[in-house]
Amino acid sequence: MWKERLARRVGPAAIMESANPFIGARTFVAAMVAPPTGAFLLPGPVKMHPRVLEAMAVPAMNHRGPEFKEALAEIRTLTQYAFGTRGPVAVLSGSGTAGLEAAVSGLLRKDDRVLNLVNGKFSERFHELCQVFSTPTALTFDWGTAVDPAAVAAALDSHEYRAVTLCWNETSTGLTNPIAEVGKVVKDRDALFLVDGITAVGGLENRREAWGVDALVVGSQKCLAAPAGLSAVALSNRAYDSLHSETSFYVNLKAHIDAMAREDTPFTPAVPLFLAFREALRLLKEEGLEHRIARTRTLAEAARAGVAALGLELFPDRRFASNTVTAIRYPPGIDDSKFRKVLRADHRTILAGGQAHLKGKIFRIGHMGICSIEDLQEGFRAIEATLAAMGHRVKAGAAVEAMSGRV
Ligand SMILES: Cc1ncc(COP(=O)(O)O)c(C=O)c1O
Repeated sequence: MWKERLARRVGPAAIMESANPFIGARTFVAAMVAPPTGAFLLPGPVKMHPRVLEAMAVPAMNHRGPEFKEALAEIRTLTQYAFGTRGPVAVLSGSGTAGLEAAVSGLLRKDDRVLNLVNGKFSERFHELCQVFSTPTALTFDWGTAVDPAAVAAALDSHEYRAVTLCWNETSTGLTNPIAEVGKVVKDRDALFLVDGITAVGGLENRREAWGVDALVVGSQKCLAAPAGLSAVALSNRAYDSLHSETSFYVNLKAHIDAMAREDTPFTPAVPLFLAFREALRLLKEEGLEHRIARTRTLAEAARAGVAALGLELFPDRRFASNTVTAIRYPPGIDDSKFRKVLRADHRTILAGGQAHLKGKIFRIGHMGICSIEDLQEGFRAIEATLAAMGHRVKAGAAVEAMSGRV
């Protein structure tokens, strides 16, 4: 009886059987996994699998006991799998920025010169972070254009830098920077290469070692499709060897990596989030990293086909358009807040707007993690209907039809 009632409210797909002996009330689980929206397409946090949600709903666990130790051992191995490494990793209680701060504060000192490659909101923030812990210089590029490896080479040849930072996938502009080419330039000059992979790891092809990446950071709520609130860091061996503990305490990366190596954490971890993270990583492993990356690419191609069919334009240089987030220019006459309000109220669809000076000019769709083509098509159906209602001329059904040809 409860099942039928709930199915009417949340849709049959949202109903699940609880395998958790501690959860008696199945209705609670079903209601918990039911998304409040039709298509939830933010570029993070992203939709989560019911198994991930259920993993969090457990009684309090001793974070120094054998059960959690076992969980940490599995999390370490699965995190290495997600990063494509056998080297040092840490998982921190704290969103992606905590991971970046751990890497920057652990690897750099105040008088270290650092070159920050800036072409969007998040690379700009990486620069701000480096201002706290080092002596950075920003090499800037127009938002929506890629970092130019030749300009990086010229900057590195004119001054000595201890490190270079790159935002691999600039979520604010929907652009993937040419990490292989930039990495080569950095490697040739022997600087440390610190990479924000927060919306890249688990969604984009990763040749971390060949590119000479020394520190790579990911956020739990993006391509890994876990809850928000954790970050993970992978280091090269030479980066691990140069870690210091002078300017960090809570995010002391050496302490976190060393603790992780013995299935422990320096402080009380966010236990439910760690358990959900483990489940999300298990799902990634079950799907296969290569498969998820290929599927994410297919979704991005479908999204770009949908954009073209609606007569809209991508924001970034399309040669560098991201496979995890698509940024789209508003056509003339479409007001951002009204557009996203109608999407939310009438179509239960959630998208992101633009940031900083791109506010009101673009909107962004995330298609990473466990996002499906059905989710994406539902989102595009809603976008099409909303644009039409706001006076933008579109051929009914064009977006979904164009997308269907891609999958
Ligand atoms: C590329 C990138 N870097 C950094 C961040 C900041 O991460 P968090 O908000 O998890 O701290 C984000 C968040 O969207 C991001 O997309």
